Amino acid sequence: MSEPVVAKKGPYGIDLEPGKYWWCACGRSANQPFCDGSHKGSPFSPVPYEVTEARKVWFCGCKHTKDQPVCDGTHATLE
Ligand code: FES
Ligand code: FES
Repeated sequence: MSEPVVAKKGPYGIDLEPGKYWWCACGRSANQPFCDGSHKGSPFSPVPYEVTEARKVWFCGCKHTKDQPVCDGTHATLE
């Protein structure tokens, strides 16, 4: 199984307006934490995330969360 790239060993806290967002699951995007299409050719696909009211979201940067696309603290266990 291929592993995602650890884009950052911690979450990205982003203030979002209502809308639909695409979280980068592969870790290769240059526009973290969002997908920029760089996953092409990899087994990963972006994960959609809908925001209904403006708020801050802590997106997983390490890409190893069990609660995609948000940080669940797993980054603390990575080598
Ligand atoms: Fe990935 Fe926290 S940044 S679990
Ligand atoms: Fe990572 Fe699209 S660039 S999922």
